[in-house]
Amino acid sequence: MGSWRRVAFALILVLCFSSKSLLSMAAIKAAYWPSSTDSYQPPLSIDTTYFTHLYYAFIEMDPLTFKLRVSPNESVLLSEFTAAIKLRDPRVKTLVSIGGGGSNSTAFALMASSKPSRQIFIESTIEVARTFGFHGLDLDWEFPANPDEMASLAKLFIEWRGAIETEAYSSRRPRLLLTAAVYFSPHFFLSDTPRSYPSKAIKYHLDWVNAMCFDYRGAWDTSETGAHAALYDPKSNVSTSYGIDAWLGSGLPQSMLVMGLPLYGHTWKLKDPNVHGIGAPAVGVGPGGDTGVLTYTQVVQFSCTNNATVVYDRTTVSTYLYAGHSWVGYDDARSTIGKIRFAITRHIGGYFFWAVSYDQDWDISRQGA
Ligand SMILES: *[C@@H]1O[C@H](CO)[C@@H](O)[C@H](O)[C@H]1NC(C)=O
Ligand SMILES: *[C@@H]1O[C@H](CO)[C@@H](O)[C@H](O)[C@H]1NC(C)=O
Ligand SMILES: *[C@@H]1O[C@H](CO)[C@@H](O)[C@H](O)[C@H]1NC(C)=O
Ligand SMILES: *[C@@H]1O[C@H](CO)[C@@H](O)[C@H](O)[C@H]1NC(C)=O
Repeated sequence: MGSWRRVAFALILVLCFSSKSLLSMAAIKAAYWPSSTDSYQPPLSIDTTYFTHLYYAFIEMDPLTFKLRVSPNESVLLSEFTAAIKLRDPRVKTLVSIGGGGSNSTAFALMASSKPSRQIFIESTIEVARTFGFHGLDLDWEFPANPDEMASLAKLFIEWRGAIETEAYSSRRPRLLLTAAVYFSPHFFLSDTPRSYPSKAIKYHLDWVNAMCFDYRGAWDTSETGAHAALYDPKSNVSTSYGIDAWLGSGLPQSMLVMGLPLYGHTWKLKDPNVHGIGAPAVGVGPGGDTGVLTYTQVVQFSCTNNATVVYDRTTVSTYLYAGHSWVGYDDARSTIGKIRFAITRHIGGYFFWAVSYDQDWDISRQGA
């Protein structure tokens, strides 16, 4: 009997491990879908073959009530999004992302600082997810500003997951997924207020994190051009490879780490059109408005219109182009493949794009296939 049990136990272990490796082959291929009008793409036109998870971006939290804000217009969009994805491919999971880069981080800090406000927020998120037919929830709080706020974030994750499990049990429905968009590194080592994500709370209470491996450089430093999502940087730790390895070093299981891939570029205005490498002197932002940002679609258009020279940079695994004084750092199919290969060597959970509507005819989205 005892030895049979051992054999059965060993068998179960083998099954667990083999299903785990299958799981890692069936990687997460996610993308955020911006609901804002300036880059609006009808959800029915998303080619779901390239994705396993799609995020509605974003829904806001009311800074006074700590409940999610769902205006009549928002509720139409939320329903359209989940209905469209379900219609196109019922296997693709939908998550609703809360916050975003432009959201009120002070409000998140206040909400997370006390149990009653966390509870109000958590209940509201579950209600919204269920009302509109989402499979999960995502928090994009950019960013907890100090170690106290990181501690509040840990409490939020613990209580949120608890509430999600309880709701699944009482409603007899599959548990909602819980993920978070996070800084490219678990440590804010560039900041005057060094702080780290609560990796233990993340490990035990989230399904995975989406590391935002982009925006390393941009309009805030116009002195020189840069690869804003460099996989490698010989001169600093501000790179995707550093961030991914630091997250893994913080104790996060490989399968719980999802790497961000940008479907956009940052632009600069060259000081001298004849000096056009990465790190070339610049005097301002290039095309793409005040922020100097072009979607991948716009980069391709710009390149055609201006007969730009496109360069693949092996050192950083990134792409840039220049035409006259204009310079754009971005990722094309080749550098995206380089990054996906890196993700495979690190055995991480997968990748996500910001943002699905910025691609040109699915050229980049299809590279993971
Ligand atoms: C809501 O949608 C309608 C119809 O699309 C539009 O006319 C209106 O301005 C929107 N309201 C808000 C507050 O955005
Ligand atoms: C941000 O949230 C804080 C705290 O809830 C609030 O006092 C402030 O008015 C909010 N700011 C904006 C612009 O809504
Ligand atoms: C990069 O990080 C490592 C440790 O994680 C540190 O030893 C090294 O000094 C850092 N390099 C730079 C250029 O900051
Ligand atoms: C585009 O640039 C290439 C060199 O990069 C040049 O040979 C070609 O003549 C240019 N074409 C046009 C239409 O300007």
